Amino acid sequence: MLGVANTPFLQFLSEEEQPLHDADGIGRRWIGRDEEKGPGLVVTLLSIHKPRDRSHYERFRHFHETFYRSVEVGSVTPKPQSGNAKPRVFRLPEDEAVINRYGFNNDGQEVVAERLAKLRAKGVDGVVGVNLGKNMTQTNAAVDYVSGTQKLGPCADYIVVNVSSPNTPGLRALQGREQLSSLLSAVLQQRDAMDWSGKKPPVLVKISPDLTQDDLSDIAAVALDLRIDGMIVSNATTTRPSSLSSSNKAETGGLTGKPIRAASTEILRQMYELTAGKIVLVGLGGISSGQDAYDKIRAGASLVQVYTGLVYEGPGLIRAINKDLEALLHRDGFEHISQAVGADHRKKDDDDKLNEPILLV
Ligand SMILES: Cc1cc2nc3c(=O)[nH]c(=O)nc-3n(C[C@H](O)[C@H](O)[C@H](O)COP(=O)(O)O)c2cc1C
Repeated sequence: MLGVANTPFLQFLSEEEQPLHDADGIGRRWIGRDEEKGPGLVVTLLSIHKPRDRSHYERFRHFHETFYRSVEVGSVTPKPQSGNAKPRVFRLPEDEAVINRYGFNNDGQEVVAERLAKLRAKGVDGVVGVNLGKNMTQTNAAVDYVSGTQKLGPCADYIVVNVSSPNTPGLRALQGREQLSSLLSAVLQQRDAMDWSGKKPPVLVKISPDLTQDDLSDIAAVALDLRIDGMIVSNATTTRPSSLSSSNKAETGGLTGKPIRAASTEILRQMYELTAGKIVLVGLGGISSGQDAYDKIRAGASLVQVYTGLVYEGPGLIRAINKDLEALLHRDGFEHISQAVGADHRKKDDDDKLNEPILLV
């Protein structure tokens, strides 16, 4: 069985310090660890493949054990900033959700770059993505993301342009067609102008679950036009579903966890259709079981990430997801996870064909 809500491991930490936030003041998300996966779950995407290296694994076991094989750091802004006043993160246990209004509290690009360089120097070989944000006071957003690409790109396996956090005023407006196009062009231009000696980090854009059909079409058009490497779907919602029952439900901030799962999977499904499967999609939002992860994969995700689920299920969740995913793949006759990516769409196409009128001549 999966871990019970609020496992002791998580309970002894204050809400500010739980895995939804790390001791260095940087949020982190987990994807999974090759060591725990069967071969059917190991993927090479976005040109990132970190071969299993047992000696590294032993030497940095603590890092791997604590943070799994794949970690995203951020959001990081150019200047350090302290974020919003506390309290700024709230559990909604009855809803298996969290509301946060951190506001990108972080130590700034330079300190984070130094920290990541130290980790690399120690030989830590897991996948480390860096998620970029902008400072609260910055009015020219591109400046901050370009600077993030320049300073943090060299220590990142991939870069995330986060334009969807609800706690920085104006940030989500960067998802509009023109704004997004000019922002992403600036980031890609910066990245492409740098010398990567073959290790150019892919750029992914992270979007909100609160987008209209038109917004999604615009984002898909920009992503295809600029050949962005990938998209993370999704960030937190500012909506408050009527199903919420916890006393903290009226807190201001981004709602995450179980209540956003369906909406976020739906947006992902639409984005897969709009981009015709040409862009790597990362499914995120409310995953707390292998079935949840599988639903996102079938809807179009090539990778998945987990955040709030860890608060309620505990760190064993990743292992449980991998185990259940293998069983689900097997059940549906897939040998490798890549075969399941977008499978719902293919099924729909088949059904549509079945419903096509047959012309009798
Ligand atoms: C406490 C907390 C802090 C977060 N901080 C960030 C952040 O700084 N940047 C970001 O892109 N997403 C941030 N997120 C959003 C998550 O990365 C993720 O998109 C969202 O929580 C949905 O996934 P989940 O339901 O698995 O938690 C944060 C989420 C939580 C709960």
